[in-house]
Amino acid sequence: MLIIFGASGDLTARKLVPALSNLFREGHLPDNFVVLGASRSDLSDEAFRKKVVLESGFLKERDLDQTKSRVKAFSEKIFYADLGKDYDTDYGKLAQRIGELDTKHNTEQNYIFYLSTPPSLYEAIAKNISDQGLANEKVGWKRLIVEKPFGYSLESAKALNEGLHRYFKESQIYRIDHYLGKETVQNLLVTRFANSIFEPLWNRNYIHHVEITNAESGGVEKRGGYYDKSGALRDMFQSHLLQIVALVVMEPPLSANADEIRNEKLKALKSLRIMNDHETLHRNTIRAQYVSSIIDGKKIPGYREEEGVDPESTTETYAAVKFFVDNWRWADVPFYVRTAKRMPTKVTEVVIHFKSPHHQIFKNSGMDSKDNKLIIRIQPDEGILIKFGVKVPGQGFIVERANLDFYYSSLTETHVMQAYERLLLDAMQGDATLYARADEVEAAWAFVDPILNYWKNGEGVKIYGYSAGVWGPANADDLLEGNSIWRNPGENLADDPGFCVIS
Ligand code: BG6
Repeated sequence: MLIIFGASGDLTARKLVPALSNLFREGHLPDNFVVLGASRSDLSDEAFRKKVVLESGFLKERDLDQTKSRVKAFSEKIFYADLGKDYDTDYGKLAQRIGELDTKHNTEQNYIFYLSTPPSLYEAIAKNISDQGLANEKVGWKRLIVEKPFGYSLESAKALNEGLHRYFKESQIYRIDHYLGKETVQNLLVTRFANSIFEPLWNRNYIHHVEITNAESGGVEKRGGYYDKSGALRDMFQSHLLQIVALVVMEPPLSANADEIRNEKLKALKSLRIMNDHETLHRNTIRAQYVSSIIDGKKIPGYREEEGVDPESTTETYAAVKFFVDNWRWADVPFYVRTAKRMPTKVTEVVIHFKSPHHQIFKNSGMDSKDNKLIIRIQPDEGILIKFGVKVPGQGFIVERANLDFYYSSLTETHVMQAYERLLLDAMQGDATLYARADEVEAAWAFVDPILNYWKNGEGVKIYGYSAGVWGPANADDLLEGNSIWRNPGENLADDPGFCVIS
């Protein structure tokens, strides 16, 4: 039984129920599976089913091919419980409802509690669940899934971990980071550790620098209130991007077992060089905010004009950080990671820039700045691209850059699971590989905290502006050493930097 707290919220209708519906259609859910939504709205089972399934705008597109009876059968697995005015209340009635559903549907007291509420409520909900004996694993297993943001700082993340550990064991807690549910993020592990051609080169001897871009074309939409207190560094970098960094940086795990992988990720996160002095933080970080612009004749509001945002806000919608990894493999290799809203396109990719060949025999061949690159495209146009030099046919040795590519879309036979499908299924099966462990989350905060403190309290720290729809502030490239510049990717994996479609 999946019990969702905050079930009348956006995430349930937008992500969780569509993911469950796909799992149902693909035959991944057992017959006795049920969902119980719980929140503070007064809804009947019927009204809740209508909202999240039968009349939901989020299911239509994918479910066009389903027969109505299948949708109906799916909706009948969904129930609702009203918690009353407050989440911090006596869960006696809820426990009773859970008990009834358990008996009727024979769920064997195997429960997952999914907290899709503001994080300030996590501990209270965990306590109230536990007070009813529902965290107890004497009969059946009990798991707790929590959504990000997991903490607001290192201190608050530690407090939250301690709070949850009072009621649930670490092995029962699943901290969701939906980027880990993306096929292409998981494929980072396979690219590295299932091939013998990349790993020998995956180190300081051959890699010049690593670049990770996460760009979104959208603004803060309706989440201005939340975002203004968070900002790009907390919202994306601390969680999703540092998880990607960990997968790029980590040493080969002993096996694909959850703890082996998470131990290596933890080591990777702990090896990020923490920046403490203001001079280093000044040189290695850039924060910026989008300002209004006109795209395709349409006025795009600036961040400070968005609903729920303080008109004098200094919250960053663009964050770029340069850092080093202090270990044997990565010494002196710069990592550049940026994330932003209102960029020209929505794209996430990792670019491994290889060093120039150490003895250059085709010096005057146009080989300059055409070093090998491995581009791992997380989204969209998911795939992998290798850029390498080829001879231009004809006299002499003129070198041009060619592409060797793989696209996920060419695997037409395969149903590629969406992030939430994979993660929910893993949690049901007790596989925590793609969930963040307490120590990983704390290590990520330990790296991010000094940057946040510097941005908040440092003297004369600037927040730059960039017009909505461009690749960040004018000084964005200053972060990169030497002649390097950001690869500003287009919508398609093989697009070369310099152009993209804005609308
Ligand atoms: C969320 C952030 O975790 O990830 C959002 O809170 C962001 O601000 C979203 O838009 C991006 O996810 P995706 O999967 O669309 O890249």
